[in-house]
Amino acid sequence: MFLFVRQNPRWGAANTALVRWLPAEYEDGESEPKGWNPERLHNGFQLPPARTVSREIMTSASKWKDDSYSQLLVDWGQYISHDITLTPQSTSTDGSDVDCLKTCENVHPCFPIKSMVLMFLSPGCMPFFRSTSDCFVNFQSGIRQALQRQQLNAMTSFIDASAVYGHNQKLESFLRDLPGRNGKLAVNARFKDPKGRPYLPFVTKLPSACHQDLQGERVECFSAGDNRVSEGLPLTSLHTLWLREHNRIAEALKHINGHWSPEMIYQETRKIIGALHQIITLRDYAPKIIGPESFKHYIGPYRGYDPSVDPSIANVFAAAAFRFGHATISPILCRLNESFQEDERFPHLRLHNTLFSPWRIVKEGGIEPVLRGVIGSAASAVSADMLLADEVTERLVVLDTLKQMDLAALNLQRGRDHGLPGKILAESQICHSNAIRLSSSYQSDSNHSTPCLKKQTKKTHIICPSLCQQTVFLSDH
Ligand code: HEM
Repeated sequence: MFLFVRQNPRWGAANTALVRWLPAEYEDGESEPKGWNPERLHNGFQLPPARTVSREIMTSASKWKDDSYSQLLVDWGQYISHDITLTPQSTSTDGSDVDCLKTCENVHPCFPIKSMVLMFLSPGCMPFFRSTSDCFVNFQSGIRQALQRQQLNAMTSFIDASAVYGHNQKLESFLRDLPGRNGKLAVNARFKDPKGRPYLPFVTKLPSACHQDLQGERVECFSAGDNRVSEGLPLTSLHTLWLREHNRIAEALKHINGHWSPEMIYQETRKIIGALHQIITLRDYAPKIIGPESFKHYIGPYRGYDPSVDPSIANVFAAAAFRFGHATISPILCRLNESFQEDERFPHLRLHNTLFSPWRIVKEGGIEPVLRGVIGSAASAVSADMLLADEVTERLVVLDTLKQMDLAALNLQRGRDHGLPGKILAESQICHSNAIRLSSSYQSDSNHSTPCLKKQTKKTHIICPSLCQQTVFLSDH
């Protein structure tokens, strides 16, 4: 690791560019997404609006269950994706006076999602902010790529529990209990769970945009190392568990090493927590997602540090591949009581009622009913005719936007925003290239891979016959 820091200190660091496996494909060659100019034809056709693709191909009113996996597999996927990728979006108007929340025009940095079908409160368009572009020009990649718009990863690319500790010093200090001089993380000063266990601290900018219970005290958005912590109840519950685990381990370390400074306790605990994140992801998560054979073949056991490997997250991974998980989102959040039955006081909820609603943790029994639900209920299966649940294509909640959003359309539009090459090019250049060497054994391992691969209908074959194609099924053109 030391060698790495000396040789390539920016590789995989927070706020560096997402790397490209293939050059970007922009409409003007450099920065405008495909579909920016409606007059422009692609292979002789106008690109269909992302929302139309979502409604006609991707949305599903129901989802089957896949008994082989618990819902925790899905929720760990979301949690760990937040540890390694966060593509910041342009919030400024880049010098123009256009408001991306209101406009239906393609004006930088807005690239609204046009809709032929009116949505509740969304006449014509859903807001879309283009991802922030990187100002750094990297000539190592060749002149063509150097001039193309690149996007950033605000998180560190390493699985290092940055979702717990933050990816910059200011945030890290805010999250620590520095006055306590105990190496612990700060906890919520207002609320505790029914058994006296701590919650995450609230954000500092109040009032926050999180949804509220109509009665009683406000419950603000939580803060953690990743700012998406309040997006859903399982995600918040996992963040809360890690906060408690850090503080538990810090206390134990202090007990056996009375002479350690608070800084030493904090850093040693952080190392353990980071290692636990890596173990869970590589031992328990990744082999279930890509299949044990593929895992053995392409990843295998850790063979030590290799300074020639650039660990940066790839653009296609953040903007498409890892978003495969969106097709595994369940429309219902189960909450279970101590007997693992539906909790009488806190029943199951439709997903949209759980988004950005941390009050449901604080006022509805803590994280336990949610955690029992995610370990005690089966994950959703994916098939060609049941991709994304309509809870996220018709009723997705995004903070600071009153409109109900469509996650499938956001993914497609994001792929265009990032200039991700289309399926055919990606397939021919990546899947069959020596650079990545996807051999036939990879394809034949599909039985062990995601549930999506279980039904090999013609349509599935077009959309996701292998993980490789999954990387592009969200980049549609
Ligand atoms: C209830 C569950 C989930 C919700 C509500 C959700 C919502 C979202 C939203 C709103 C975005 C930003 C879309 C955009 O503007 O481009 C996003 C991005 C993303 N999601 Fe999810 N997601 C969920 C679950 C998952 C799961 C299970 C995975 C993976 C297994 C996942 C992986 C990702 C990734 C990799 C990104 C891109 C992150 C970035 O680089 O910024 N998500 N998700």
